[in-house]
Amino acid sequence: MKKKLPIGLIRVFSLFVLVFIATELIVPGSELAFTEPVIAAFLLIVLLFLIIFEKIKEASEALYTDHISKEERKTYFEAKEKTSIKDWKSLLQALTSLKAVEEEQDIILEHDYDGIKELDNDLPPWWLYMFYATIVFAVVYLGYYEVFGGDNQTDEYNQQVAQAEIAIEKYRSTAKVIDISNLEVSDDVAALNKGKKIFKSNCAACHMVDGRGSIGPNLTDEYWILGGGIKNIYNTIAEGGRDGKGMISWKSSLSPEKIQQVANYVWSLQGTNPDKAKAPEGDKWTE
Ligand code: HEC
Repeated sequence: MKKKLPIGLIRVFSLFVLVFIATELIVPGSELAFTEPVIAAFLLIVLLFLIIFEKIKEASEALYTDHISKEERKTYFEAKEKTSIKDWKSLLQALTSLKAVEEEQDIILEHDYDGIKELDNDLPPWWLYMFYATIVFAVVYLGYYEVFGGDNQTDEYNQQVAQAEIAIEKYRSTAKVIDISNLEVSDDVAALNKGKKIFKSNCAACHMVDGRGSIGPNLTDEYWILGGGIKNIYNTIAEGGRDGKGMISWKSSLSPEKIQQVANYVWSLQGTNPDKAKAPEGDKWTE
């Protein structure tokens, strides 16, 4: 015996999934909408209503069939049996409403093109309901965006930019502010190690890992193009070197704290005298 499909359950479930997806799409925000208590409550109510409707449907059928004659009941159930969805095959039948080959003479059209005949099939319900859905969608869409002035993509973009600007402002106000004029050399090992890491991944390509210089100048000697000492170095890293020389400004990619750490690390390389060091450039630095 074939197992009967729990149609009522499937109907409730699929309608609920549709409503769920719709609310996720409609409710703005990057987080899942149902995590908000109001939305969760709404979804719960929708689910309850769907179950109630299903129960009412069952009950009203029972009420109806209780009050009709035996004959009528028989024809009612026969008709229902014929169209009811009992298994996947009947589900497919319900979705396509295909006519069996034996029934084709009922729907054949009069005209005849050199022996080619035409059937007057019903539109397949799956297609028809999708078509209705597009109409509903169009009405909702038109109403939402054109009549009630819902947020279009430009508005959404502007809102997100505004949000991001607030976030940047907040970050700036909480990020450690570095005042160059009282910047001091620190020998904090943890900070120096952080500086070393930053140097390795961002600077070593031009200054080499040990700071001996390659595309960029030697950072270990006493000679500086743009000035030695922690303040000048901080400034060079933050603002960049002379135009066209290849030393970019790092303040947009490194936070003030990180620039401080890497500047401190660069200054700690003084006098390390690595092998194959690049010839001195600039002037000898004295505080
Ligand atoms: C694309 C290659 C390149 C990268 C990457 C680079 N630099 Fe430079 N750097 C240079 C060049 C070229 C100069 C010389 C600038 C000038 O002559 O104005 C320079 C100059 C400097 C100076 C000043 C040297 C002096 O003699 O005054 C410091 C300090 C410095 N860089 C540190 C860094 C740090 C720290 C980083 C990583 C955050 C870094 N550089 C990344 C190419 C680079």
